[in-house]
Amino acid sequence: MKILLTGASGFIGRHLTRKLQSKGHTVIACSRKNGFDYTRMLSKKDWMPHLNHVDIIINCVGIIYETREQTFNSLHYQAPSALFRAGTDANVKRIIQISALGADDHSSAPYHITKKSADDILRSLPVNWFVLRPSLVYGRGGKSTAFFKHLARFPVIPLMEGGLQPVQPVHINDLTDCIMHCLVSADTNITIDVVGAHAILFKDWLQLIRTSENHSKARIVSIPFKFCLVTAWLVKHFIPLMQTDNIRMLRRGNYSDVKPFAKFLGRMPMDIYTGWRKL
Ligand SMILES: NC(=O)c1ccc[n+]([C@@H]2O[C@H](COP(=O)([O-])OP(=O)(O)OC[C@H]3O[C@@H](n4cnc5c(N)ncnc54)[C@H](OP(=O)(O)O)[C@@H]3O)[C@@H](O)[C@H]2O)c1
Repeated sequence: MKILLTGASGFIGRHLTRKLQSKGHTVIACSRKNGFDYTRMLSKKDWMPHLNHVDIIINCVGIIYETREQTFNSLHYQAPSALFRAGTDANVKRIIQISALGADDHSSAPYHITKKSADDILRSLPVNWFVLRPSLVYGRGGKSTAFFKHLARFPVIPLMEGGLQPVQPVHINDLTDCIMHCLVSADTNITIDVVGAHAILFKDWLQLIRTSENHSKARIVSIPFKFCLVTAWLVKHFIPLMQTDNIRMLRRGNYSDVKPFAKFLGRMPMDIYTGWRKL
């Protein structure tokens, strides 16, 4: 099939491109390098010329923090909505949106709110759609994977409220297998929370990373939430993942019922202990 993949140069996009091509699909890999700048593709007419004979659209563009040019509204909402509408008009067979766990009615962070707005547009269109909401995705080449590995190297780790937040990281292979299944699944028009087999406390995940690299367990120092917010505000320009909204999102927890995902995938996704050893 001919697949238009946006965000193809990113962590998820690169893994997915390899899998799609290995199965014989033709991938139109879109990123800013080859002229697909979301900040300039905000209406249907910007997308229509690129959709000739396209069977499937997969949207993997996203940012974790805003700059003056790169806003959540344009990247997460306006450009994808225009792409989804253009795809529907061009009669593509399926549209797959990579959203994020937490992009729901309870979200208060602009990251999530803008993702949910695009998800809602897609869900309203007369096309076969999939909204995938991954929790933290880990794997080779992932920015957050590298960040957490780095953090876990310290023998003493300061964590918000002792790192007691539940997270349910999912291995990149489970996410890409899920996307591959979306290409052929008889069930369509579904929203799926893409999560690992079990939830784990954030502090235990960092200890797991340490022990998998043959370090002894770290001492965890608990930091009050408000102090974390101030620290994040101070360091966010040097450590982009440390945004105040990301601190709030972590505090909310990042987990879901795995059963619907396992049913769609046809197997259980990897648990973090097995998955991390495969990195
Ligand atoms: N990784 C995770 O843990 C995780 C979890 C949940 C949801 N997600 C979602 O999954 C999607 C992909 O995540 P990722 O981890 O692969 O992110 P990533 O590695 O940061 O990749 C982001 C992609 O977005 C593209 N992009 C950025 N600005 C753009 C612009 N102005 N125009 C066009 N493309 C632009 C980048 O392309 P260029 O910079 O090369 O142009 C890159 O291909 C995102 O929507 C993210 O929110 C990720």
